[in-house]
Amino acid sequence: MSEIRIAVFASGTGSNFRRLHEVSERGELAPGKVVLLVSDQPSCLAVSYARKAHVPVIAHTFKELGGKAAWEAHVVEKLREEGVSLIALAGYMRLVGDTLLSPYKGRMINIHPSYLPEFPGLDAVQQALDAKVPETGVTIHFVDEGLDSGPIIDQRRIQIEPTDTHETLLQKVHAVEHQLFPQVVQRVCTSC
Ligand code: GRF
Repeated sequence: MSEIRIAVFASGTGSNFRRLHEVSERGELAPGKVVLLVSDQPSCLAVSYARKAHVPVIAHTFKELGGKAAWEAHVVEKLREEGVSLIALAGYMRLVGDTLLSPYKGRMINIHPSYLPEFPGLDAVQQALDAKVPETGVTIHFVDEGLDSGPIIDQRRIQIEPTDTHETLLQKVHAVEHQLFPQVVQRVCTSC
């Protein structure tokens, strides 16, 4: 089976990117392989980690490239040059536009920190705490035109204890994400 070259998109801390990269380096995403980090936040921790780990990086603000459509067109060109056939959004904090989505529809997945369709959008961890629900979760789904609305690939439930704070719940969410995301990426790669 030929290699599936994966670009990870991240805007912040990048713990999921790190995890995917580490697993990839051990050959455990095969036939998938993380070959590129793309970011709209050149100073974020995900970019620093990628540079230290010698992962090729494309990192520009939208403003630097003349807006979202121009940024996406530039990125698509680079993805083609790098032979990328799967995109994993891992804390990429932008709604994907048509310029990027069209060529990668069905080959772009996102991880979201809730049990979708519950709590789409920003700070889903805080949304769950505010709603005082007993459980939340993690979802990995294909990306479509909407906000966290594409077909669900896999998801897990996470219990919320009355003592949980944003910090403790986020830790639980990340622990689940770091296990589930590599498994799902690997599975998607084998069915590409
Ligand atoms: C994750 O919780 C992910 O579900 C959401 O953004 C967060 C990114 O965290 N889309 P990190 O940057 O990977 O640490």
